[in-house]
Amino acid sequence: MKDIEFIDLSPRIATEIRVSQETLLSGRRAQEIRAQLEQRGVVVFKQIHLDDEQQVAFAGTLGEIIPQGNKGIYKVTLDKKENDRADYLRGAFYWHIDGTTDDVPTRASLLNARRLSPTGGQTEFANTYAAFDDLPESEKKAISKLKIVHHVETIQRKIYDAPTPEQEASWKRYPPKAHPLVWNHQSGRKSLVLGSTSSHVEGMDPEAGRRLIEELTAWATQPQFVYQHQWTLGDLLIWDNTGTMHRVVPYPLDSGRMMHRTTLVAEEALV
Ligand code: OGA
Ligand code: MN
Repeated sequence: MKDIEFIDLSPRIATEIRVSQETLLSGRRAQEIRAQLEQRGVVVFKQIHLDDEQQVAFAGTLGEIIPQGNKGIYKVTLDKKENDRADYLRGAFYWHIDGTTDDVPTRASLLNARRLSPTGGQTEFANTYAAFDDLPESEKKAISKLKIVHHVETIQRKIYDAPTPEQEASWKRYPPKAHPLVWNHQSGRKSLVLGSTSSHVEGMDPEAGRRLIEELTAWATQPQFVYQHQWTLGDLLIWDNTGTMHRVVPYPLDSGRMMHRTTLVAEEALV
């Protein structure tokens, strides 16, 4: 039997990796896994059942871990007893890239399915490299120098249309951030930087900017660029947060769904 196998799950995005826990944790295949992640946007290890310690150890073979949550394990849940920022996590129901109001979005995240929701809760990913590559040349040129201003408030307003003053104040604590719409990666590849944190296009008429953001989002989330993951307990999935957007199909607040996330720090500037 082979040490490791790569099985593409759709032509433009997502690859399943079949490998033993032992090989995974040894780090022997880390470079190949990183390369797959960059090429395919999403890699999935079905029912690999890593515990927290193993998850953090594996993540450490891929990059530097953000010290978030408990020893690198952050609880993604809508249960306020488990995560006091659960309200805010509902923004994930809309397409987004993590960390767009920071200087540079995070490199990648690992998500480990610990408890599932009986309904909803599938996670969807869109390949923003493929979406850029398939744009007509004239459009690539037209958008190449544009910048989008990202706001936490923009995505949160989609969930809370009548926010409390406390909510509004908490959103405003994240200053807005302008990023290039087209990310020129060190590799020479280019990807789109979109998502529901997009407030407006810098220097463009607000209405025209909003239309452009909506058109490009519709383009980038066409079926050929999207992979939907139907979770089974113990699945571990990694997304390249610099070359994909993601969202989760809404699930009930009291579903008990629990994902353990480990995130890798940014490695290249967004230019
Ligand atoms: C995240 C996120 C989606 C999910 O953790 O950043 O968007 O399916 N999660 O829970
Ligand atoms: Mn997210």
